Amino acid sequence: MSRLGSAIPDDSIAIAGAGIIGLSIAWKLSQRGWRVTVFDKGEIGREASWAGAGMLSLGGEVDQPSRFATLAVESRRQYPSFIRELESVSDRVIDYQECGALDLAYSADELVRLEVRAVAQTRLGIESRAVTTKQIQTFWPRVGSEDLAGGRFFPADAIVDPRDVTAALQRACARAGAKLLPKCAVLAATVTKDEVEVQAESGEERFQAMVIAAGAWSSSIPIAGIPPIPAAEPVRGHLVGFRQPEQTCNTILRHAHTYLLQRANGLLIAGASVERVGFDRLINPEIVAWLASEAGRVLPHLNETAPAEAWIGFRPGSSDLQIGSWHSRRLFLAYGHFRNGILLAPITASLVTDDINANLRTR
Ligand code: GLY
Repeated sequence: MSRLGSAIPDDSIAIAGAGIIGLSIAWKLSQRGWRVTVFDKGEIGREASWAGAGMLSLGGEVDQPSRFATLAVESRRQYPSFIRELESVSDRVIDYQECGALDLAYSADELVRLEVRAVAQTRLGIESRAVTTKQIQTFWPRVGSEDLAGGRFFPADAIVDPRDVTAALQRACARAGAKLLPKCAVLAATVTKDEVEVQAESGEERFQAMVIAAGAWSSSIPIAGIPPIPAAEPVRGHLVGFRQPEQTCNTILRHAHTYLLQRANGLLIAGASVERVGFDRLINPEIVAWLASEAGRVLPHLNETAPAEAWIGFRPGSSDLQIGSWHSRRLFLAYGHFRNGILLAPITASLVTDDINANLRTR
């Protein structure tokens, strides 16, 4: 049903995308009095946010000064209060573990690379300490020690279950008055000086502003009235999950491009491939086997079992992190988080909310 004839509702914001980024922004905007409608082409939180392992891992992801590094450090700082507040307003428990991470080196060269990297990370405020092979054997007795040269422990790395976060955000948004419209894609939008006209599967509606937070799909929404927004692209990742007794792996374990972590419910996750294959959803058994063997290198007892699950997700790739207004005070971008959408959700929500308030009103 078209509503284009009616007045633009005051303080109305449309968000395209109901993943962890869109929902976090919707929650924060609703708390500040905005009337938010979140559109999603599919189910709430069922794409990259559902697939993500949920590493909050400065130690694994950040080593050079950049805007991303600054935002990642700040978002990690905000995480404990973000989770506390979200649990409180949603009455849901979130699996959030301040478990630290252990980077493993299986050669002298790998150990030197870890040490050099740690020097650069210390300058960014990311602390770590050297751990000897003997210490690893003592405190992480399940870790494979053949050819082990040593490691580094990152005490501030943590994990969160992104599915818990999106479920809590969904309830927090609803309680704060946001309207969530799953299975309701934004088909097109037009940005003018005074409004944004949104054509969605539910009909046409006018809003004061719009946020594009549709992850890897962000640039597939045709938007008239402004220069094209930066391209988004899917970067597929496979992950596997092993059913294991709780506390089998009570720290994030990393080696080269592989990471392992365990949810509170026992699911031990190993990830991840990085593939530029478009939106191909087929699970590749060869990649699953490769991930399982990488996991078995780090935790050899996993060689005796097969993964119970394998899944894929489409990381939101782009040339850069796209956060902020785009050629208009009515269009805001929030995508391009690539490997770190879960980590960057709190800071993205704060930045976009502040930006919208600064551009459109003071609250
Ligand atoms: N955040 C880790 C990954 O994208 O695989």
